Amino acid sequence: MLIILFLSLLVSSVVGTEKDSALPRLSDTKAVEAFIDSAEVVVIGFLEGEESHGYQELVAAAKRVDSVSFAIVTEKEVWADYSLSSGTITLFRKADNHQENLSLDDAKKVETDGLVNFITINEVRYITEYNQVTAVGLFNSGVKVHLLLFANRESKEYTKLKERLAALAPQFTSKLLFVLINGAVKSNSRSLGYFGLKSKDLPRVGLYDGDSDMKWLLPEGKISTERVQEFCQSFLRGELKVSSQHGLPKMSHCCW
Ligand SMILES: *[C@@H]1O[C@H](CO)[C@@H](O)[C@H](O)[C@H]1NC(C)=O
Repeated sequence: MLIILFLSLLVSSVVGTEKDSALPRLSDTKAVEAFIDSAEVVVIGFLEGEESHGYQELVAAAKRVDSVSFAIVTEKEVWADYSLSSGTITLFRKADNHQENLSLDDAKKVETDGLVNFITINEVRYITEYNQVTAVGLFNSGVKVHLLLFANRESKEYTKLKERLAALAPQFTSKLLFVLINGAVKSNSRSLGYFGLKSKDLPRVGLYDGDSDMKWLLPEGKISTERVQEFCQSFLRGELKVSSQHGLPKMSHCCW
């Protein structure tokens, strides 16, 4: 009797774990919209079912990327609302209102590592920490203007400044991307150099326009929500003067 009880506990706990690892299913467009709206970045597998090509890899990727929520949609009528007709893994993000698709028909073999790369590269947020991986997603975005916060991670104000600017970013959706550059990392010194900055000068705020390849620095002083907001709005109104670029080093054409 005891053994049977023990066995059934064992079985139900196994079933329990399997259930935990299944991705939530969204059954209609309303549910999909709510899910997309629930986070800055979400990933949805438009897959016929749990047996589909790519499903197991998506589950495995979901376990490795904690910062993103995952779900699947099996109803084809719902796929049509996203102009998708075949198996696709799609990343939706708010910062630039973007839908990045990974078609599974084009991919002969779906690998978990490849999926994790696809997600981490495209994980552009209201404020994205710059590194070799996120650089790809940032520079692939249709939004070519970057508001740059240069700050040293060890500094007291780092988290506060990051949160302050992340809170400001939503009002500039699809116009500017907010990027955080950790000045304490050696490989970022080049980016600082484009703005004539050294690690000891931080925190500072800059703005880079990839279309005109022009850049500006917010004058020294408190990095308040109001000042950064005004800086961004001045840029959008075309009011940042060309002359404010004087004295800044020439930038390479691809990136800052
Ligand atoms: C992803 O697919 C949808 C539907 O076809 C399309 O509207 C969207 O532009 C695609 N995204 C990219 C980045 O191509």
